[in-house]
Amino acid sequence: MAIRQLPPNLINRIAAGEVVERPASVVKELIENAIDAGASRIDVVASGGGLALIRVTDDGCGMDRRDVALAVERHATSKLSGDNLSEILTLGFRGEALPSIGAVARLTMQSRARGADAAYEASVEGGRKAELKPAPIGAGTRVEVRDLFYATPARLKFMKSERAETMAIADVVKRLALAQAEIAFSLTIGDRTTLRLEACPPGLLDHRLARLGRIMGEDFVADALPVHAARGGIAVEGFAGLPTLHRPNSSQHYLIVNGRPVRDKLLAGAVRAAYGDLVPNGRHPMLALFLTVPPDEVDVNVHPAKTELRFRDAQAVRSLLIAGLREALGQAGHRATASLSKVALARIARPGNGPMPGQGLGPRPHSWNGPSPRAIFAEGAQAPLAHVGSPSADNYAGGDDSAAVDYPLGAARAQLNDTFIIAETEDALVIVDQHAAHERLIYERLKQAFANGGLSRQLLLIPEVVELDAESTERLGAAAQDLERLGLVVEPFGAAAIIVREVPALLGQGNIKGLLRDLADELAEGEGGLVVSERLDHVLSTMACHGSVRAGHRLNAAEMNALLRDMEGTPFSGQCNHGRPTYVELKLADIEKLFQRR
Ligand SMILES: Nc1ncnc2c1ncn2[C@@H]1O[C@H](COP(=O)(O)OP(=O)(O)OP(=O)(O)O)[C@@H](O)[C@H]1O
Ligand SMILES: [Mg+2]
Repeated sequence: MAIRQLPPNLINRIAAGEVVERPASVVKELIENAIDAGASRIDVVASGGGLALIRVTDDGCGMDRRDVALAVERHATSKLSGDNLSEILTLGFRGEALPSIGAVARLTMQSRARGADAAYEASVEGGRKAELKPAPIGAGTRVEVRDLFYATPARLKFMKSERAETMAIADVVKRLALAQAEIAFSLTIGDRTTLRLEACPPGLLDHRLARLGRIMGEDFVADALPVHAARGGIAVEGFAGLPTLHRPNSSQHYLIVNGRPVRDKLLAGAVRAAYGDLVPNGRHPMLALFLTVPPDEVDVNVHPAKTELRFRDAQAVRSLLIAGLREALGQAGHRATASLSKVALARIARPGNGPMPGQGLGPRPHSWNGPSPRAIFAEGAQAPLAHVGSPSADNYAGGDDSAAVDYPLGAARAQLNDTFIIAETEDALVIVDQHAAHERLIYERLKQAFANGGLSRQLLLIPEVVELDAESTERLGAAAQDLERLGLVVEPFGAAAIIVREVPALLGQGNIKGLLRDLADELAEGEGGLVVSERLDHVLSTMACHGSVRAGHRLNAAEMNALLRDMEGTPFSGQCNHGRPTYVELKLADIEKLFQRR
């Protein structure tokens, strides 16, 4: 077949294949146009999953007669003034969205230029343009898209359910609304308005957080840590959720680059590096980060739908994100997610509704099937405690205890089941998982000591011989030099045992046998000849686990209070090394509600 020049209609339909993948892509393009037009409010309507109708109305600058006609032409844009593709400040620049949509659907656009005394309407159906005509619109621009993909039935077959397409539309609206907090948005599905967002005053971080709350949930607001970092012209601002607030996937990772929401692998990597051992395996934190980059440092022209971009110096961006996140997380200290106590309270209030172990299914207001309260206070708990700082205060019971109560985690009051510390603050009850908390403390100390030039060691009076299988022995033997820097001095003892001569002083003389077995397993995880340094976090975490106060260990008052004070002073102590919370705080006010005193 001879080569032929394709007709414009076909060219547009081919381009549409890339630009308009599904109804949500149309919504994205139309909202972006409204944002570029300087709108202060954008209303989106969709029905039939966006296939039947999409309508986007804005109060932006509008277009005059000539521009209304030109806007639906291919490669026609007002957004590139010169021929410089490296200084793009608008969301659009390709001059392709409207003609692409018009090629595969029925598109009608009405617009009035600001201050003009007439408004115009252009329409395109399956690529065929109608005559321009006057339109009854007061201000701004309204674009209506009906029967999407009617002109390309093949594409219709790829659509998911109406529900799924509607969800994708809502997601697009949310992402753009999150990026543009100063614009009011609404989304109406069929005849129900499902999202209504008022404009947030510019510049105020609190207001931006309010918008994030509407989109990411109020839990996020309660647990959001502010992020600020800047280096070499690149700046990142935003909010990162506490590590104890996590989700099963990364759909709540938002990255906005120069006002454009993007999906970028870079973010995932930075989040992994920054949160690392703070979030349980397979779970993802929540965050929204706004990156400001000089326009010539980023190439937005790498993808027809403009959802990806390329940084000139990706490494610099990555390390800035990591630094910003790390710092924000470090500031959080011992804070754990506030939503935990809500969950706990809800379960206590309605025991039938939560998967609480040992609890029957139906609500049983008058039965208690845990251990009897009497047993708890008789056995598990100890006598009333003196608080730290005043060892002579054994006259405590009910006496003045204001000093320790003022600490964030309060004064220890009892130990439950040799596992949990019960503490009291000014306005709350705090329950601490002693093992989880101690493990984190040791881990953080090990990391710090390592960073400061190595761990101090403690000589075992009688070296301990640990029998292991041959592979484990070999693995540990090979890693001996690395382990020594971690304070663990070992050497093979025959083919199937290891002799331990010194241990990290921080660990005390815990279960050395268990530690070596776990370390051998840990080393086996890596592929071929693993170096300890590559799994340093894991190795230190394994050590911490063995060095910490196990559940079932009785603590006295001073020990408990010391643990609480340590937690307050230690970064990341709100969760253990496995990402579980180390404590839960129940507000007195909420406890009062449980007893209907409020
Ligand atoms: N809501 C609107 N308000 C004012 N002008 C608009 C609006 N929508 C489109 N336009 C005008 O129509 C032109 C064409 O829009 P279109 O979306 O096709 O291309 P673009 O935004 O320039 O680039 P891209 O293809 O990357 O989106 C725009 O450059 C703009 O001048
Ligand atoms: Mg556009």
